[in-house]
Amino acid sequence: MAFLDKHKAIETNATLLMVLSLLVVTIGGIVQIVPLFYLENTIEKVEGMRPYTPLELAGREIYIREGCYGCHSQMIRPMRDEVERYGHYSLAAESMYDRPFQWGSKRTGPDLARVGGRYSDEWHVDHFTYAKGVVPESVMPPYGFLADTVIDGRYIEDLLSAHRMASVPYNDEMVENARADFAAQADPNADSSGLEERYGEAVFGRAVNVRNFDGRPDLTEMDALIAYIQVLGTMVDFSTFTPVDNR
Ligand code: HEC
Repeated sequence: MAFLDKHKAIETNATLLMVLSLLVVTIGGIVQIVPLFYLENTIEKVEGMRPYTPLELAGREIYIREGCYGCHSQMIRPMRDEVERYGHYSLAAESMYDRPFQWGSKRTGPDLARVGGRYSDEWHVDHFTYAKGVVPESVMPPYGFLADTVIDGRYIEDLLSAHRMASVPYNDEMVENARADFAAQADPNADSSGLEERYGEAVFGRAVNVRNFDGRPDLTEMDALIAYIQVLGTMVDFSTFTPVDNR
């Protein structure tokens, strides 16, 4: 048949086959990707999402460094068993300031996307120090050394700038005051009005957690990690959120 003859030309010419295959893959890719830019609920509009404060961002770096991601996901899927256990399923908007994402794919431990506010700071200190002391069957390793590692935020401006380069909307004021904000968040006696002005209720609808997270006098990695853990999943105000129906 004439049609098959033409196909033979493609099958016997490697260059032509490659060019045509690329063309087909390109069209297929465009068909998949382009609609995402027009669907309203690819990234839903939500109230309350804000960039992490300097201390929370430092805690997030510790989370990445320690490989917590290897045992914990941060993504609640929209299935009934998950929603009943962990809370509202994760929205794309909730990780829009995460560079890189910590969604994960391994759950040796539970999902942490909404763990913020679920336990007290003291519980976290005990649990990070010796998980088995709190949950006897736990296989989570001990992280007590974090409470002995004092940090002063000397590189925190650079960290914010790096995230700004990756399009997280930190403004000049946030970057310039990063070190002061870093220290103020873990010290209930410090003046935290600047921190609150930049990241707090007036702008994002919710006050920043300001307290001595690990209960010890020094500002340590434990403070930073708990500040991060306690804000996870708490930013979006679900009382004002209505899912968009695209059908
Ligand atoms: C070897 C795997 C493993 C690693 C690594 C690990 N965890 Fe866990 N984690 C677990 C397991 C298992 C549990 C459930 C038992 C328990 O509560 O200890 C858990 C529980 C937790 C909980 C309580 C969650 C809840 O809803 O009850 C938090 C918070 C937590 N881990 C944070 C972390 C952080 C932060 C790190 C990194 C510093 C980390 N984990 C590293 C295995 C791990």
